[in-house]
Amino acid sequence: MGSRRKKITTEALRAMKAAEQKITALTAYDHLFATLLDESGIDLILVGDSVATVVQGEDTTVPVTLDQMIYHAGLVSRAVKRAFVVGDMPFLTYRVSTEEALHNAGRLMQDARVEAVKIEGGQPVLDSVRRLTDAGIPVMGHLGLTPQSIHNFGTYKVRGESESEAEQIVEDARCLEQAGAFAVVLEKIPSDVAETVTKAVSIPTVGIGAGSGCDGQILVSYDMLGLFTRFRPRFVRRYAELAEQIRTAVQGYCSDVREGDFPNADESY
Ligand code: KIV
Repeated sequence: MGSRRKKITTEALRAMKAAEQKITALTAYDHLFATLLDESGIDLILVGDSVATVVQGEDTTVPVTLDQMIYHAGLVSRAVKRAFVVGDMPFLTYRVSTEEALHNAGRLMQDARVEAVKIEGGQPVLDSVRRLTDAGIPVMGHLGLTPQSIHNFGTYKVRGESESEAEQIVEDARCLEQAGAFAVVLEKIPSDVAETVTKAVSIPTVGIGAGSGCDGQILVSYDMLGLFTRFRPRFVRRYAELAEQIRTAVQGYCSDVREGDFPNADESY
């Protein structure tokens, strides 16, 4: 248990890849969830822009703002003692110019106390990745299905199935490493492409729907806990059915109140 409590850093994540020790990662958006994940021994917590879909009820991740991300990331950072905390940079906050990217990433670091930021994309974001890492901001890349580009893709289908798209993903991963990224998320790409990327770079790859050949795995916590059930991608394994348990618990409470069973004498003063 001793070594399991040691603070996770970018260096520790790199060492885990070198030692072929799998990296575990989940998303969190608030203090309570972050505490539970951290106490359970997760290595990396992403304050994902998936907050838009699973918490805010949006259809895509596009509408979430930097201020909202800073709010959620701040709640998470305050809770976490061991895991490495990464904050997602929302749509357009790193694409307009490298200076704007630096300013916005700086806000996530200073106002929300995240330890790194995540940026989606390959070639078009390399200058920003360089600018941020030069300024001391660790950057996690994100390739494959990049949800902020959903209106460009038009569909959530698997990326990198064609030879040219697969080659582009491998090349983008190499470029992200050269630009200074400390890790890269690979989302919804074929397992063999993810394995090729994982062998091609010395930084850790963290897969979601990218097979078992990645250096680590990430899932949206609300998906794997069975809390968010509006749709269920094939890559999600559910470790609990909390939505069902919550409904059952609330129905029990309603019926106890309606029948006068709650509160009883022990629960009253
Ligand atoms: O926002 C998010 O939750 C993510 C993960 C799916 C990697 O980017």
